[in-house]
Amino acid sequence: MEDRTFDCAAGREFIARAEELGRLSDSPHHYTRTYLTHAHREAARRIAQWMGEAGMRVRVDAVGSVIGRYEAASPGARTLLMGSHFDSVRNGGKFDGVMGILVPVACVAALSREGRRLPVAIEVAAFADEEGARFQTSFLASRALVGRFDPALLARADADGVTLAQAMREAGLDPEAIRGPQVDLASLAAYVEVHIEQGPVLLGEGRSLGVVTSIAAGTRHWLTVRGVAGHAGTVPMAMRHDALAAACEMVLAIERRCAAGGSRVGTVGMLEVKDGTGNVIPGEVRFSADIRAADDETLAGAEREAFAECDAIAARRGVRLERARTHSVKAAPCAQGLQDGLAASIERVEGAGPARRLPSGAGHDAMILADVTDVGMMFVRCGAGGVSHNPAETVSAEDAERAIRALGDFLVRFAG
Ligand code: HGY
Ligand code: MN
Ligand code: MN
Repeated sequence: MEDRTFDCAAGREFIARAEELGRLSDSPHHYTRTYLTHAHREAARRIAQWMGEAGMRVRVDAVGSVIGRYEAASPGARTLLMGSHFDSVRNGGKFDGVMGILVPVACVAALSREGRRLPVAIEVAAFADEEGARFQTSFLASRALVGRFDPALLARADADGVTLAQAMREAGLDPEAIRGPQVDLASLAAYVEVHIEQGPVLLGEGRSLGVVTSIAAGTRHWLTVRGVAGHAGTVPMAMRHDALAAACEMVLAIERRCAAGGSRVGTVGMLEVKDGTGNVIPGEVRFSADIRAADDETLAGAEREAFAECDAIAARRGVRLERARTHSVKAAPCAQGLQDGLAASIERVEGAGPARRLPSGAGHDAMILADVTDVGMMFVRCGAGGVSHNPAETVSAEDAERAIRALGDFLVRFAG
């Protein structure tokens, strides 16, 4: 039963801001905000304004991420970096990513109102592209932040043929300027990300908040199947090299191999038939494959088995299969000290015994920051059965308030 005396003004402000950002969409029909679109740049401006109102000095980095900085009590202090992303998947939920920007900004605003400075400087990074939905460029912004941007991505084109480089220039960014880290890596004390759980565990256990123990490894691929296009009415079934029928068998093989137990998951989210026409035997099909597992070794095994079966299907059907990996990220452990610090703050705020610790099946910018500093993550309960990457994704003002209070408690105790 929710505590009705619980004043959640900050939680209600969070919801109002998330709703406002949720209206900044590439589509009038649903919430989709992809990298450097008009809606995306509007959202960047709004986030920058809220960071400024929270007493932060705001800058925009070379790829369009918005970074707010709140100075420490004394110069030369280390920096606690926090953040998450403000782009989305197509027809997604309005809290994915945004939670990890608005919650820390609310905490800094409270510190600023009190005129309070901490032993560490605080930076909040609103990452401009994590989902990579427009250019298939997952974690583009956090990779650029740590100095690992891959210039080869600049040639990637979106569905309209606009390249990443063109989109950056149209947004006033200089693709040639993406050199080196966008923050002072040597001064980083840690990175902490607040994110919706995107699953049902906290909801099922009646908890508002949780601590992430590790983040699953993942790879993403394009598989292109080339058969022989032909007349739907004249080619006997036994003589066909139908690229789409072969691809469908491969999709089910990937599903079956990833359903083989353990932490494996596999998803085919996109499938395109080249020059698809109702009365033509498909000659060429391209589909995506997203494969993940709790650890790198399990992921490698799932990939090996799934793709070996796809190769066997291609041979049997007399089609050619070409695979290209577009994304790969190793499993990332969350630092024990940060887990313990976040757990202690949750326990103080929730007063419900030991905080729940759980792995993340979803990928997060924290995985990229894990290469350069200790990372920690706090999960916030998802309503509506825990669904995410779905317009039904939801968070309550009360849970947002608890997240702000727990993170605020963590900040004032974090000594860097
Ligand atoms: O795919 C993911 O796990 C995240 O939403 N980028
Ligand atoms: Mn997501
Ligand atoms: Mn996310």
